[in-house]
Amino acid sequence: MNPVDSLTTLPIEDFADRHLGPTESEVATMLAALGYDSLDALMNITIPEAIHLTEELGFEAVPTEEEALARLRQVAKRNQVVTTMIGAGYYGNYTPNVILRNIMENPAWYTAYTPYQPEISQGRLEALLNFQTVVTDLTGMDIANASMLDEATAAAEAMMLARRQSKVVGDTFFVDADCHPQIIEVVRTRAEPLNIKVAVGDPFADSESHEYFGILLSYPGSSGAIHSYESLAAAATGRGALVCVATDLLALTMLTPPGEWGADVAIGSAQRFGVAFGFGGPHAGFMAVRTEARRSLPGRLVGLSKDTKGRPALRLALQTREQHIRREKATSNICTAQVLLAVIAASYASYHGPSGLLRIAQRTHLLTCAAAEALEEAGFTLESQNFFDTVTLRTPGAANRHLADALKAGLNLRAHSLDAIGFSCDETTTAATVVELLSAFGVTRSIEQVEAAAAAASETWSHLPQELLRSSDYLTHPNFNSYHSETEMLRYLRRLADKDLALDRTMIPLGSCTMKLNATAEMIPVTWPEFSQIHPFAPADQTEGYLQLIRELEDSLARITGYDAVSLQPNAGSQGEFAGLLAIRGYHRSRNNPERDLCLIPASAHGTNAASAVMAGMRVVVVATDENGNVNLDDLRSKAEEHSAQLAAIMVTYPSTHGVFEESIGELCKIIHDHGGQVYVDGANLNALVGVAKPGEFGADVSHLNLHKTFCIPHGGGGPGVGPVAVGAHLAPFLPNHQQRSDAGPGTGPGAVSAAPFGSASILPISWMYITMMGDRLRKASEIAILSANYIAERLSEHYPILYTGRGGLVAHECIIDLRPLEKAVGITNEDVAKRLMDYGFHAPTMSFPVPGTLMVEPTESEGLAELDRFCDAMISIRSEIERVASGEWTLEDNPLVHAPHTAQEVGGDLWEHAYPRSLAGWPSKHQTESKYWPPVSRIDGGFGDRNLVCSCPPVEAFAE
Ligand SMILES: Cc1ncc(COP(=O)(O)O)c(C=O)c1O
Repeated sequence: MNPVDSLTTLPIEDFADRHLGPTESEVATMLAALGYDSLDALMNITIPEAIHLTEELGFEAVPTEEEALARLRQVAKRNQVVTTMIGAGYYGNYTPNVILRNIMENPAWYTAYTPYQPEISQGRLEALLNFQTVVTDLTGMDIANASMLDEATAAAEAMMLARRQSKVVGDTFFVDADCHPQIIEVVRTRAEPLNIKVAVGDPFADSESHEYFGILLSYPGSSGAIHSYESLAAAATGRGALVCVATDLLALTMLTPPGEWGADVAIGSAQRFGVAFGFGGPHAGFMAVRTEARRSLPGRLVGLSKDTKGRPALRLALQTREQHIRREKATSNICTAQVLLAVIAASYASYHGPSGLLRIAQRTHLLTCAAAEALEEAGFTLESQNFFDTVTLRTPGAANRHLADALKAGLNLRAHSLDAIGFSCDETTTAATVVELLSAFGVTRSIEQVEAAAAAASETWSHLPQELLRSSDYLTHPNFNSYHSETEMLRYLRRLADKDLALDRTMIPLGSCTMKLNATAEMIPVTWPEFSQIHPFAPADQTEGYLQLIRELEDSLARITGYDAVSLQPNAGSQGEFAGLLAIRGYHRSRNNPERDLCLIPASAHGTNAASAVMAGMRVVVVATDENGNVNLDDLRSKAEEHSAQLAAIMVTYPSTHGVFEESIGELCKIIHDHGGQVYVDGANLNALVGVAKPGEFGADVSHLNLHKTFCIPHGGGGPGVGPVAVGAHLAPFLPNHQQRSDAGPGTGPGAVSAAPFGSASILPISWMYITMMGDRLRKASEIAILSANYIAERLSEHYPILYTGRGGLVAHECIIDLRPLEKAVGITNEDVAKRLMDYGFHAPTMSFPVPGTLMVEPTESEGLAELDRFCDAMISIRSEIERVASGEWTLEDNPLVHAPHTAQEVGGDLWEHAYPRSLAGWPSKHQTESKYWPPVSRIDGGFGDRNLVCSCPPVEAFAE
């Protein structure tokens, strides 16, 4: 071996080289296939010159994982982990370790995509069905959806659902003043653009108006108080108002569920079912309704259907309610939700089972009783004698002193006002915690005394209203009664994960979704206690690390996009859109132009755009696209002209949803600006732009970004996400803010759009790590993403038409394969191809968006040449299969495409009646002989499930052979 001098001075390893799939020589091969000799040459043709950046982003390089993690450790250390009894919708709990390791930290779960292709998503669909069952059983309602973005937005969605369902003509929504403050704030933010009035008050004194189309109660209240609402609910129903209830799943193991006393809608958060505080998120919100309202439910809903063999099979139900189909008429703009967190919450319920959950609830309650009674004995006054886990004390003039004393004892409590202080117990509370809590109030008790008091309280349960003690069963299904040992749980989770196809097995070439590497080093900090164990309303001086992380990330995103200010509060792209449109609305109003309420949206836009515009109080006018897929400038000009006086904005995706860098973007911005409108660039496609162009510099005023695409937050099977909104300086005063944290946004902002001041803060370290480790090589990532898409387009273009290209016949970071001509000629559809890809071990590309009958492919920069080729080979092989149908060798009724995907049961079964061999069905290419993924069900009949709606765990007999 030769001596090497410089080895010790070289960095150990460069993260970017691990993140980027193709090696330098593979890049050269791909370029050669396209006829270019350098990436620069390719970029110079692909990216319009007018927007192409020449200078570097200028990030400092921290290329190794270890160094970046060490830096983040220093940031994390500035957060203080303190025993937290603040409550207010966020409670301490333990994520069972078997769930932590096998879901939260397991790429088989966290790298999966939204289950739009149900045959390869049965595992997470079952977990989501479990979640829906947890919610319906505990709330006593008929049907629950598969998660909401958080509790406060769920309350706002309940308001909108009530508006849709109620016949009351009045325009006021009543909200119980004892809801968590963030619920009231988000409801107000969402009501304002829709001209809904919000009346906040005491339900017993103030809710009896014929003007109210809906009322929102809190059960238990934010103060802890529990009231019986049965007659109040009946009266509201009698007036035609919908009765909505913000509730707590753990409390409902002991209390009569709202569905049994007259509620129409129940909402809340499943956070305390095994999900850490995370400085406010992500957590799964929930919503449950009565059967009559099922078509009004927002968000995703999992339902049971059947496959071609009649086997029970799960898939997303009633999708015609959703934004991707109904656009501006959708029930909500929700797209990415909180799947991973819903899966954790459901698994927590499976692991503990009904009796385990009840034990946790009882223990929590009894320790609360012990604390409350000791304080009362010492002379403190309780706001309410009825409570579950939360107590508010009247402490005239002394709340701050008690707060400070508690802090000295290492406890965070909740200051309601100068005269009232509160605390909440939870799963992590022990008798020792109660001893410390009491000592902060100058009350001395021993652990034994606390334990004895808790035991005594269990003799009467007198702090729960006796008429509200729960008598109905819940979670009787085997999925909540079979996995209580760690062995069983481990195997159940493994069984579910094995049913699904995630990034840990194969590339997921979903256009518009950017399923790129979610590096382990990026994921590791999420579960550090300094990030996970921080309550969103912890004192600011305990959260300095978070604030540093947030500011650094905001700065980086501003630098990348060319905007002046960024808010990280929106917890999905859809919420970023809403926040961005609110900023535009605020801007026009500040200039005395409230009449500017019209939003132009190209026909090819993502469904969330139109749905968000409606939520922001705007009217939608659709702009046509031309034959090349570009925004039709003539139509744009004429619509801008026609609506000039009311023009608020245009929402345009860049590069376009057709995967093209439209040359006319500068001109488009000018037309809109000339008519006094603002330009909203949907930044979901930023993976083609980072380091190569900046929307804030090429004429746009605002964008949302999807950190769960471009910036490596894993998709989680359908969430969580973060949808920061980035704006020019003139829109910065209108970014979201939060009443409970003055540094969360400008005082002039429209209010909160998410429950927590910084949204889903605990997953921000992922994007921070990505940007820190990539530095200026972020640009290279965009370039490779563009190269890879063009390479695929080039390889497939001989076999399939590629729709829409830009200059030089090139695409941006994704390409659309047009299957319509083949469908017309042969009868094979894009769905057949998508399902056949499953037999080849692939997740299908995006189907029928933005163009029906097509497949949109986005390979990202993280796939090496071998994987890109494997995908192209599969597509080419499928093309030859289509040819065999075209030539008459196989009939249209019996060929491997229309019967795809094939299950192991069929291929290995005794009966085989197809014209093509079993081997071709199950092992269509060499790769499957080395590594075979078997979809657990064959093609699913979605319509059957919609006609026979079942959205909670069916009886086990349904699964009998
Ligand atoms: C172009 C585009 N805009 C907006 C969104 C909405 O983002 P989210 O799913 O995070 O709400 C998406 C998500 O798929 C998208 O592709």
